[in-house]
Formats: sequence, structure tokens, C-alpha cells
Amino acid sequence: MTAHRVAAFGDLEEGVGLKVDLTDHTVAIFLVDGALFALGDRCSHAEASLSEGEIFGDEVECPRHGSGFSLSTGEALTLPATKPVPVYRVWLEQGEVFLAVDE
Ligand code: FES
Repeated sequence: MTAHRVAAFGDLEEGVGLKVDLTDHTVAIFLVDGALFALGDRCSHAEASLSEGEIFGDEVECPRHGSGFSLSTGEALTLPATKPVPVYRVWLEQGEVFLAVDE
């Protein structure tokens, strides 16, 4: 597991996804009600970018076909997606946003 500094906290906007490209992972980071969440950016249905999705409660809605994914577990909650997307550990440290990924 490797920690990466991926953004300043000020780069995040409440309810708006931030797409982060690391070598082997593309991750969508969300700030929702003051909490940070990080999911695999690529929708498990047809590869839309979840960082472009809208937030509804504790879900992000895929911008292409509307599947909802849990921000905390990555589970696909509504069709057409049936497979989860990965979740990542994300945290704040001295005003910087860090992400842990397997490498
Ligand atoms: S691409 Fe996301 S639900 Fe189809």
C-alpha cells in the first residue's frame, strides 16, 4: 500500500468529483457533507467516468446510464451496473488529501 498526496483540500468542492490519475489507478474523489470518499473512476458497466457523476445522498450516479454506486462500499446499487467499483482509503493531513493504493 502506497500513500500519494493527490490534492490540496481546497481543490475539492462539496459534491463535485475530482478525477485523479495515478500510474495504475484512476480514482474519483468526493467531498460529501465534509467527509472524503474515493472510488475507482471507471464505471463497472460501460466505463463512464464516475467523477463526472452527481451525488445523491451517499451514492454517486453514473453520468452515462444512471447506475448508483455506494460512496462507502463501491457497491452497484441500481441497474444496469451489477459489479462494484473499488474503494480506496482517502484522508486529510495538514490540508492535503492523501490516497492509499496497492502497487
Ligand atoms: S456506464 Fe455507468 S451505468 Fe452504464
